[in-house]
Amino acid sequence: MTEVARGLEGINVTATKLCRIDGQKGELIYSGYDIFDLAEKSTFEEVAFLLWNQRLPNKAEMLELNTKLLSERGLDPIVERLLSELWAVVRPMRTLEIAVEVLGAIDKDSSDLTTPTLRKTAARLTAKMATVIAAYHRMRTGQEFVAPRDDLGHSANFLWMLTGKEPNALEARTFDVAMILHAEHEMNASTFSAIVTASTLSDMYSAIASAIGTLKGPLHGGANEAVYKTVEAIGTEQNIAPHVEALLGRGERVMGIGHRVYKTTDPRAIILEKLGHAVADQSPDRKYFDLSLKLRDYLARKLEGKPLYPNVDFFSASVYKMLGIPSDLYTPIFALSRITGWTAHLLEQYADNRLVRPNALYEGAANREYLPLDKR
Ligand code: ACO
Repeated sequence: MTEVARGLEGINVTATKLCRIDGQKGELIYSGYDIFDLAEKSTFEEVAFLLWNQRLPNKAEMLELNTKLLSERGLDPIVERLLSELWAVVRPMRTLEIAVEVLGAIDKDSSDLTTPTLRKTAARLTAKMATVIAAYHRMRTGQEFVAPRDDLGHSANFLWMLTGKEPNALEARTFDVAMILHAEHEMNASTFSAIVTASTLSDMYSAIASAIGTLKGPLHGGANEAVYKTVEAIGTEQNIAPHVEALLGRGERVMGIGHRVYKTTDPRAIILEKLGHAVADQSPDRKYFDLSLKLRDYLARKLEGKPLYPNVDFFSASVYKMLGIPSDLYTPIFALSRITGWTAHLLEQYADNRLVRPNALYEGAANREYLPLDKR
């Protein structure tokens, strides 16, 4: 074969029952359910069950999963010690990556790749990663660890552990919907990383650590923090035009804009913008959200005719800001949600594994004569 599929664009690397995206229509479907329906009616826990089982749970199954997630919320002593060493020198995404590997190291079942154990591992990681990030943040800000609460759902409990303040109903629902929106997205870069690692029959923890490392980059999950920095640098409405012109003039990209698959609109951005308006109405800290709206309008005029629209990261930045979340936790929060989609793909992969081993087209030198070191 002489062609190179750069970026693997347009290539199906596997089949999946989890997610379908129509980039032209701006549709996102999780196992047959439209994202607009899930964002309106579902919960993050229910979506996790849906992804792990490809159907919605009944009451008993929901209770069983919730009980499992609650039982895994604690902070393991070894992870606590690890965080106390890491918080001052390691940024949150790498901390999460290391913590996941350590959780794998202390799980005696980590190399059991059968579906029931993998499902338990998926739930374990979902619960524990949230605790890791909250505990890390409490430590670095010199605050006491806030113990998880059994009477709060996964998203509200995370905000509680992070801030020590119980979120109000709108804040809890907004964050839960953001978690639903980020949970799954077919074959993106981080999911592919996870699958490549799992395809060697390495364990789920290592596959997730690979995915976290991949999500970190600014062209993928790192974009939400980059959006925050852009809006922060712009600062005022008057500065939008000069800032964007200078940025594009240097050949740089506006973060939170554009998508490999969505060429009309990213439905997640529409849902987040709507939620953002509701949160802004009760927030004393709406400046960045308002500035994001102005930036969006400016870019719509500037980029008219090009298939470049706000993606999920564009509004998540200012919505998280209004929820009082520090900007360097935006990408880790993406991981706290996407862990469900990653692990769902891993369940599919382990159940029908094939080693991922593509080719590369050789373009280097040929027929060289080897000269000993003293002759070169
Ligand atoms: N700002 C300005 N121009 C852009 C942007 C952007 N954000 N994105 C793409 N373009 C332009 C490119 O410069 C290129 O222009 P040209 O044809 O004149 O050279 C054209 O649009 C096509 O760009 P590609 O790189 O081919 O598009 P691709 O599908 O590879 O890009 C990507 C997708 C990487 C997401 C890109 O849009 C981007 O860099 N966006 C900013 C980063 C970002 O927000 N990432 C988060 C994505 S969502 C997620 O991962 C959760």
